[in-house]
Amino acid sequence: MRIVNSLSALAEALQAYRHPSVVPTMGNLHEGHLDLVRKAKPLGDVQLTTIFVNRLQFGPNEDFDSYPRTFEADCAQLEAAGCDLLFAPTEATLYPEPQGFKVTPPAELADVLEGQFRPGFFAGVCTVVLKLLACTQARTAVFGKKDYQQLMVIRHMVRQFNLPVDIVGVDTRRASDGLAMSSRNGYLSEAERSQAPQLHAALQQVAQAVRAGGTDFEALQAKALNTLSAQGWQADYVALRRQADLGPPQAGQALVVLAAARLGRTRLIDNLEM
Ligand code: PAF
Repeated sequence: MRIVNSLSALAEALQAYRHPSVVPTMGNLHEGHLDLVRKAKPLGDVQLTTIFVNRLQFGPNEDFDSYPRTFEADCAQLEAAGCDLLFAPTEATLYPEPQGFKVTPPAELADVLEGQFRPGFFAGVCTVVLKLLACTQARTAVFGKKDYQQLMVIRHMVRQFNLPVDIVGVDTRRASDGLAMSSRNGYLSEAERSQAPQLHAALQQVAQAVRAGGTDFEALQAKALNTLSAQGWQADYVALRRQADLGPPQAGQALVVLAAARLGRTRLIDNLEM
């Protein structure tokens, strides 16, 4: 695996290829990320992963400074997973001047759910993803479905800007007890870690009820919120939505249930399609 840090070295390394398949990450990699790399590998003629902790998508009270940076371990894992080229720019490389131009995603997609609780998050994500797609010359880009809304917002951005990139979503990798893999799981204490699968369990209950024909979506959401809060979680939302555009759910449509909740100081998100 070759590692490049500058835009010129990246451009030079890409000269030999026509179809980079790109996995953008913020590092602190786990098996979920490696699934993305393995999925991306056969989809291009070079597998390019990026590691960049993007300040623009962190709110003022979020964990930008403390976000785990584990570069050496990340490199070893990427190499083993088949990554050919790693682009790991510094902030000065990716943002050499203040980023005056930003991508503003539409409110109906980006100011709801995660966007309601993390104002500006999706503008930060879209802006960096647009830059990363441009400088990596991505023809395919692979993202995890754990960040379901992020994947949706990126798909819409790529479509509306006519970017020549196929966006591929990959199913969430879970621990054997159901907890979705996430870099933020590392923040959990031992006791919190053993409690954390409750989030997935709450979503499963909603999904089972819908599959069994339940259509009182408000009641199902409220029940899951109550369950989580009785278990000691502070839930931001449990929401049933249409898979296609995260619009309001209707019986008979392909639905997804999404949740974000805090356990102690750690905020986790998860979702289930049904
Ligand atoms: O999902 C992530 O890790 C980030 O939001 C992304 C897509 C790499 C953009 O910084």
